[in-house]
Amino acid sequence: MSSDNPNQPLRIALVGYGKMGRMIESLAAEANCEIVLRLDEYNNADRAGMTAEAFADVDAAIEFSTPDTVVGNIERLCELGVPTAVGTTGWYKHIDEVRALAERSKAGVIYGANFSVGVNAFYRVVEAAARAFAHAEDYDCWGYEAHHKFKKDAPSGTMLRLLEVMRESGYGRPIDVATNRVGHIPGTHEFGFDSEADTIRISHTARGRAGFAKGALGAARWISSRQGFHDFSQVWDQMI
Ligand SMILES: NC(=O)c1ccc[n+]([C@@H]2O[C@H](COP(=O)([O-])OP(=O)(O)OC[C@H]3O[C@@H](n4cnc5c(N)ncnc54)[C@H](OP(=O)(O)O)[C@@H]3O)[C@@H](O)[C@H]2O)c1
Repeated sequence: MSSDNPNQPLRIALVGYGKMGRMIESLAAEANCEIVLRLDEYNNADRAGMTAEAFADVDAAIEFSTPDTVVGNIERLCELGVPTAVGTTGWYKHIDEVRALAERSKAGVIYGANFSVGVNAFYRVVEAAARAFAHAEDYDCWGYEAHHKFKKDAPSGTMLRLLEVMRESGYGRPIDVATNRVGHIPGTHEFGFDSEADTIRISHTARGRAGFAKGALGAARWISSRQGFHDFSQVWDQMI
C-alpha cells in the first residue's frame, strides 16, 4: 500500500546495502517504513535478485549502490513497475536514457545528488550568491568538496549540481573546482569568492549520513504514489 500519508506503513526494498543502505535501515522505523528486501553485490550480481517474486510485497525501492550498477538496477526496477528513489551518484551522463525508461514505466523514479534538506536549502543560498557576484568582476570564484576515501566519483554529484545552479543563476565566469577524498568525511561543499579587498565563503558540512537517509526515506514515500521522472531538488520542500 503506497501513500504520502506518514501514518501508512511503507514496505521498502534496499537496492545497495552499504553505508547508506544500513543507515536507512537504522532510521526506517521512525519514518514508519519497513525494510522487506535487501539486495547487495552478493545476492544481486547481474541483477539476479531483482525478480517479480522478490518485489511482490514492495511499495518502493531505495537505490544506493555504485556508479557501475545503478543504471541497470533502475532499468530493472522500471520493468518491474517499482517506484524508486535513487541516491547513487556518478551516472548522470545516462540521464536522458533513464528519464525515458522512467517515463515509459508505470512507476515513478526520483533521483537526488543529495537527499539532505540542508544541502537543498544550500542550493538556494548558492543561487543568491551567484546572482550577487555575477557582475562583480573583481571577484573570482572557487568550488571545493571533500568526501571519505571510499567515494567512487569525483567531483561529487552534489558539486556538479551546485555548478549547474551557479550557471543557471547567471554566474558565467570560470570556477576553480577542487576535490579531496580522504578519511571518513561524510560530505563538505563550499564556494568562495575572492577579491583584492576580501573573501566570502559559503559552505555546507554534513555531520553524518542521517540527513541523507531521512531524505531518501521521504523521497521513497513521495514517489510511491507518483509516476514520471523527478529531481529531488525540485520537490524536496513538498516533503518537509
Ligand atoms: N544522494 C545522496 O544524498 C547520497 C548520500 C550519500 C551517498 N550517496 C551516493 O550513494 C552511493 C552509495 O553510497 P554508500 O556510501 O552507501 O556506498 P557503499 O558503502 O559503497 O555502498 C554501496 C553498496 O552497493 C553494493 N553493490 C554493488 N553492486 C551491487 C548490485 N548489483 N546491487 C546492489 N548492490 C550492489 C556495493 O558492494 P561493493 O562495495 O562490493 O561493490 C556496496 O555494498 C554512492 O554513489 C554515493 O556517492 C548519495
